[in-house]
Amino acid sequence: MSKLAITGGTLVTPEGSFAGDVLVEGEHILALVAPGSWQELGFVPTEVLDAAGKLVIPGGVDVHTHMEMPSAGGIFSSDSFETGSKAALWGGTTTIVDFATQTPGHSLKEALREWEGRACGNSVVDYGFHMIVSDVSDASLAEIPEMIERGVTSFKLFMAYPGRLYSDDGAILRAMQVIAANGALAQVHAENGIAIDVLVAQAVAKGEVDPWAHVATRPSILEGEATHRAIVLAQVAGAKVYIVHISALEALDEVTKARDEGLEVYGETCPQYLFLSEDALGWARASGAASSEGSTDPFEGAKYVCSPPLRSQEHQEKLWEGIRRGDLSTVATDHCPYCFKGAKELGRGDFRKIPNGLPGVENRMDLLHEGVVQKRISLERWVQVACTAPAKLFGLYPRKGTLAPGSDADIVIYDPEKRHVLSASSHHMAVDYSVYEGMEVTGEVDTVIARGEVVLRNQELVAKPGRGEYLPRLLPAPI
Ligand code: URP
Ligand code: ZN
Ligand code: ZN
Repeated sequence: MSKLAITGGTLVTPEGSFAGDVLVEGEHILALVAPGSWQELGFVPTEVLDAAGKLVIPGGVDVHTHMEMPSAGGIFSSDSFETGSKAALWGGTTTIVDFATQTPGHSLKEALREWEGRACGNSVVDYGFHMIVSDVSDASLAEIPEMIERGVTSFKLFMAYPGRLYSDDGAILRAMQVIAANGALAQVHAENGIAIDVLVAQAVAKGEVDPWAHVATRPSILEGEATHRAIVLAQVAGAKVYIVHISALEALDEVTKARDEGLEVYGETCPQYLFLSEDALGWARASGAASSEGSTDPFEGAKYVCSPPLRSQEHQEKLWEGIRRGDLSTVATDHCPYCFKGAKELGRGDFRKIPNGLPGVENRMDLLHEGVVQKRISLERWVQVACTAPAKLFGLYPRKGTLAPGSDADIVIYDPEKRHVLSASSHHMAVDYSVYEGMEVTGEVDTVIARGEVVLRNQELVAKPGRGEYLPRLLPAPI
């Protein structure tokens, strides 16, 4: 059995940071001990990993990914479980929770089987699944208890995308009632899709077909309105609700208000909403204001098309505040990459055909650490929103998301001083562009240990494909 001693580093947990050594036996953390004391304790490691000058943190837990996700146009997001999970490891994430997606007319069981088939034998990180319920029917709702028994304990409902993933308020209420009765977590994509479709049709009728129209037709107040409605429906159903990928200050305000009233409402945001703005889609240029983006081809903005859309700087500031205050509980990526060539390009001349989604699974830990460097959040909050809180909310704690005896030895040795530039030329995601192209960040993953195995060392990934295991998840724990 392998025995690792990770020595000389600063251990970071949500409760505090301190000098210490981590002892690992087999797949688990055996103990956290005072620096150097493992020798006196008689621990004989098979390998010593020197973490002097580095941070030692739990492996990242990204609870929002879409590997091989089918888009409206029928093409699949470009990362497979193998390529996407390798990129995750490069970026310090050792656990992902991906979205199995029910096809209308088909069962939840079929969706789970399909996604298990994609991940099993391919993922290098441990993985779990949420279930997107896109066809709320008596039959699908009756499957929820079995899903929970099989470790799928969170269910996403869409207020956006009418005709595809959308559920109306009645369907959402019915689903939330069943989710609540079984102690599971309801997740909501909160944008008013019916109103958005009216704005989209009007824009197209006026000949507004470039990517910036995607922003113009999805105003932030329609995210705020839908978030309010999702919270009210959850309240009526008695359900715990988790609002995914919050981009708008209006949506955050609704979450904050609900939490102040003592409701079990949680909010997630994503790095793209913290670091990128609508300017990237040419919105500023289209609206006559000065633009900071460099490209002259308005269609380059397609690279940044995701839903909800990127917003203005004002929203970014409020989201950082929400993370600091605790009203945003997690930061996940919504990693859903589509190549520019052959995929995003399908929407040239009609922004409705641009597949929605951005790459990011590799960049999350670094970008949030950049938030630490910029003094927006503390080191401890970094670990909390990126590792511990997602593990708790999604039933993986204390196996994942923490440095504690008995927990899985998923550990990242992180160099907080190393500067590097984010670029498609060096990233490992299977996508031909980076939304952060040229951005310099301070901090880089040095070594990654996953269930006791060193899987990334000296800038080399040594993980065997398929080493990742399925994680049956427990019901959500309050945070
Ligand atoms: O644009 C996005 N976010 N695509 C992924 C699907 C979703 O709604 O999360
Ligand atoms: Zn969504
Ligand atoms: Zn998503």
